[in-house]
Amino acid sequence: MIQVVEVGLRDGLQNEKLMIPTHVKQRLVQRLINAGIKEIEVTSFVHPTWVPQLADADLLASQLHIDPGVTYRALVPNRKGLERALRTPIHEYAVFISASETHNQKNINKSIEETFPVLQEVVAEAKQHQKRVRGYVSTVFGCPYEGKVDLKQVVMICERLMDMGVYEISLGDTIGVATPNQVKEALTELLRQFSSEQLAVHFHDTRGTGLVNAYVSLECGITTLDSSLGGLGGCPYAPGATGNLATEDLIYMLDGMGIKTGINLEELCQTSHWLEEQLGKKLSSKVLRSYFQ
Ligand code: HMG
Ligand code: MG
Repeated sequence: MIQVVEVGLRDGLQNEKLMIPTHVKQRLVQRLINAGIKEIEVTSFVHPTWVPQLADADLLASQLHIDPGVTYRALVPNRKGLERALRTPIHEYAVFISASETHNQKNINKSIEETFPVLQEVVAEAKQHQKRVRGYVSTVFGCPYEGKVDLKQVVMICERLMDMGVYEISLGDTIGVATPNQVKEALTELLRQFSSEQLAVHFHDTRGTGLVNAYVSLECGITTLDSSLGGLGGCPYAPGATGNLATEDLIYMLDGMGIKTGINLEELCQTSHWLEEQLGKKLSSKVLRSYFQ
């Protein structure tokens, strides 16, 4: 079974300048559920001045309609974020760290080494509240400030996150530079130490390699893939980062491969088209464009 984690509300919107009202985000959550999406990263409990678009995290999360088949997720950077998240019905949290020093510093204002104890505290306390925690590693395949990232550094960070007790690590190609051979090399190395169930992939499609990287990941045995409605997305602290792999493009490929996800492509495209109207711009998903010119 392939699991698709929809990150459009979080990674997708976090870089959008036009402020989307909370009620529109709520409608988006509902429309995604209607299209068959089961895993939804709804928001981030980060500092509101660092990511203004997600300043309504507390309100949005506290008003979520609980659906038995749906898991709501959110990013939690530190203790303060955890306290906020715990006041909401969000099911699952995600901590995040970068494999490159400069991106980590710009993104969360700490060195990599200083970040570990902060995340450790979040994971330990979340688990006391019976919350599962995912770990994100950013800049796995390249950093906007430092360029190439050493795979040994990625492996070390993954080991330390796993030791903390995260149940899964999502490998982020933050600025969309990865190519299939690089993905295969990284996954082959990481799969020596971790099971395929412990790893997920999170591709940005900046250079058009998102889908082929997803395909290679499936061939390597990965079963959890992140994607974003319409191909929205980008990290505000990674210059040049553009949209994630589009959910429509991923679902089209999976459907064609006979891999069932329970997600209805037609409804998904109707939802992205509606989102385009809310944002006042066209989204980049190729499959979406084939439905709506
Ligand atoms: P900081 O300024 O270093 O925080 O920010 P601090 O601990 O020094 O505290 C300063 C003030 O902020 C204090 O308030 C805290 O209470 C408050 P004061 O005492 O001055 O009144 N504060 C908070 N308020 C609300 N919520 C919080 C929080 N924490 C502290 N959680 C911090 C550190 C991590 C908060 C900040 O750097 C931040 O919010 N960064 C988030 C950046 C971000 O969201 N980036 C995008 C997500 S990562 C990503 O997109 C990559 C990914 O998609 C994978 C990939 O593609 O690679 C996941
Ligand atoms: Mg991302």
